[in-house]
Parts: sequence; structure tokens; C-alpha cells
Amino acid sequence: MASDVISMIKEDHRDVESLFERLQKMPENRPALLAELAAKFVAHARAEERKIYPLLAKRRPDEKEEVHHGEDEHHEAEEILAQLLAADPDGPEFDTVLQELISAVSHHVEEEETEILPALEKAVPPDERAKLGKVFSRLKAEELQTPPKPRQRSKEELLRAAEEAGVEGRSSMSKEELLTAIKAAKQS
Ligand SMILES: [Fe+2]
Repeated sequence: MASDVISMIKEDHRDVESLFERLQKMPENRPALLAELAAKFVAHARAEERKIYPLLAKRRPDEKEEVHHGEDEHHEAEEILAQLLAADPDGPEFDTVLQELISAVSHHVEEEETEILPALEKAVPPDERAKLGKVFSRLKAEELQTPPKPRQRSKEELLRAAEEAGVEGRSSMSKEELLTAIKAAKQS
């Protein structure tokens, strides 16, 4: 098992990708696979947000924006995850929402591996990355002790996402309206 925090984060990404694949190919195992995915995804995201992202933002202030964006993407994925947890594993909605989750997470993983992790590699020397790996593991283990609670995005996060998606009239919209408008803008 890797000890450098960067390799550990990438291992988690590959693990989540394999869970996605199994969720698609083995519908009969969906409840167990989804429970595993939710626990691992939320623990990984929280551990990053508690230790890795703040450290990068502190060392490299020019990466603050990227770190913020990464957090927004975690919360967006968690919002979709909550929908998936509420969906009937045998119903048609499950496949649609699963697809939505896969594309949101794949996008985030790609950005993290091409922007955030290379910046972290430059900002933190290898010996410190190994120590950070231990902290990352400990934080994940801590998070795994409580049932995962996927977070909903805040109004502020939704407004940023709406701006990015080019939603007109966003400032007067409610959270629900923002969610619908962002979805529609992304699909068009
Ligand atoms: Fe992440």
C-alpha cells in the first residue's frame, strides 16, 4: 500500500471507479455496493477537506480558487449521491442518477489529478507527503466510524455553479430553482 498521500488519493480514485463499474454491471449487488461507495466517497472527501485542501491553499495561495472549486465539486457529487441513496435500486431513475454521479465524479477526479495533486506535489516535499499520508488515513478511518452524511450544496455554492453554467437571473432564484436551472444548463 502506498504511503505518499498523492498515491493514496489516486488509489482511492481507482477504487471508486471500480465501484462505479460494479454498480453498472452487477445490479443485484447495488445496495451493498452503494453503501460502500457512499461511505468511502464521503470519508475521502472530508479527509481531503479537513487536511489536504487547507494545506495546499496555505502553501500555494494561487491555488486557493482551485481548492474552493474542488470543494464545490465534492458537495455537488454528494448531493447526487444523496439522490442515488434515495432511489429504488431496481427503478429506472437509479441508472440516470448513477450516470450523473459518474460524470460529476469523473470530472472532479480528472481536475484533481491534473491541477490539485501536481500543485500539492510541488508544494510539499516527499518526506512530508508520507507523514501526510498517515494523517489522511487516520482522518478517513475517523470519518468511516460514523454513517456517511452526504452534504447538500449551500445557496452560495449553487450561485457559483449557476454562474459557471451561465444561468440568467440566478440572483433571484431559490435553491430549488437554482438546482433545476443548473441541471438544464448543463444538459443543453
Ligand atoms: Fe476530491
